[in-house]
Amino acid sequence: GKGGYPFYMLKEINEQPAVMRKLVQHYFNGDQPQVDEKLLADLKNADHIYIVGAGTSYHAGLVGARLFEKMAKIPTTAHISSEFAYEHPLLSKKPFFIFLTQSGETADSREVLVHVNEQHWPSLTITNVDKSTLSREATYTMLLDAGPEIAVASTKGYTAQIAVEAILAKALGEYLNYDEAKNFDLKNQLGSIANGMQSIIDSKDDFQALASHYLSQPRNAFYIGRGIDWSVSLEAALKLKEISYVQAEGFASGELKHGTIALIEKGTPVIAIITQDRTAGLTRSNLEETQARGSNALTIVARHLAKEDDTVVIPDCDPLLTPLLSVIPAQLLAYYTSLGKGLDVDKPRNLAKSVTVQ
Ligand code: F6R
Repeated sequence: GKGGYPFYMLKEINEQPAVMRKLVQHYFNGDQPQVDEKLLADLKNADHIYIVGAGTSYHAGLVGARLFEKMAKIPTTAHISSEFAYEHPLLSKKPFFIFLTQSGETADSREVLVHVNEQHWPSLTITNVDKSTLSREATYTMLLDAGPEIAVASTKGYTAQIAVEAILAKALGEYLNYDEAKNFDLKNQLGSIANGMQSIIDSKDDFQALASHYLSQPRNAFYIGRGIDWSVSLEAALKLKEISYVQAEGFASGELKHGTIALIEKGTPVIAIITQDRTAGLTRSNLEETQARGSNALTIVARHLAKEDDTVVIPDCDPLLTPLLSVIPAQLLAYYTSLGKGLDVDKPRNLAKSVTVQ
């Protein structure tokens, strides 16, 4: 059941700290991540990692690509499965494929895996469902341990995917003997991120007020950011679109002025995600450019970068793991916008939980 929550989505948002702790228990022995050695050997042998997924899973893949490149120094790219199946880039000589699929049943992603198996390339499925189709058909499986996700809009599935990618990236980097991976204090990070998630969730009334004030009326909205914050912007916008029917775009903040800023009107909500030292100032100026055209500017900012009038301040964590925290306010804003409009949060129109047609 919903455990006293009005909707599964809110229950599942609330479960995220527990999922982080469960993943630590499952995948760590002391401070060392425990990952199948054969999987690590196959990954070590790869000259390029291709991450394949749809929707939210693709968004988690964008974050994972950064983790693999930083920890294991293997070129890694994330791809939309429905595109990759019919129009893929020229592949490297020794590819390794990672399928991100919470359900393990997504037809678009399976289409790619069928082709990968025909070529006898090694693959890993990261999924929430043991023995699902993509789990059975890939060479390796890693489980998300997130428990069943009933709400159509994925929340704990996304954060669990990123955590498992981080665990694998650290294990691989250590296997390859890189200091970046050895010094990546992932176990402690995941523990404090669980607490950080909880503190954001505990202030959920603030998000209800923000949603009602800024997001209940407008037809469109923007999430903006750079780098990893852009990746989260895509997921944040998808959450808002799918359950509250606000037309939202996740946008690379520097790209706005190259055309899209024309859409900013008086009252258009623009929410900037700011967690990275190198780009914080740039994203802030891009946000100001929208304000000069009348936008309602909101910010989701990592504590060490926060200024007095920031809207939402989130706890600090390792710069590669910020999506685990910065996505939580976006999930709550989407939830409360949908709730405020009286919509069926868990079962948005036109959508199914698992998409088994191409
Ligand atoms: C959105 C959402 C979807 C799924 C997508 C892929 O909240 O959950 O975008 O991520 O349909 O599904 P899986 O991960 O099961 O392959």
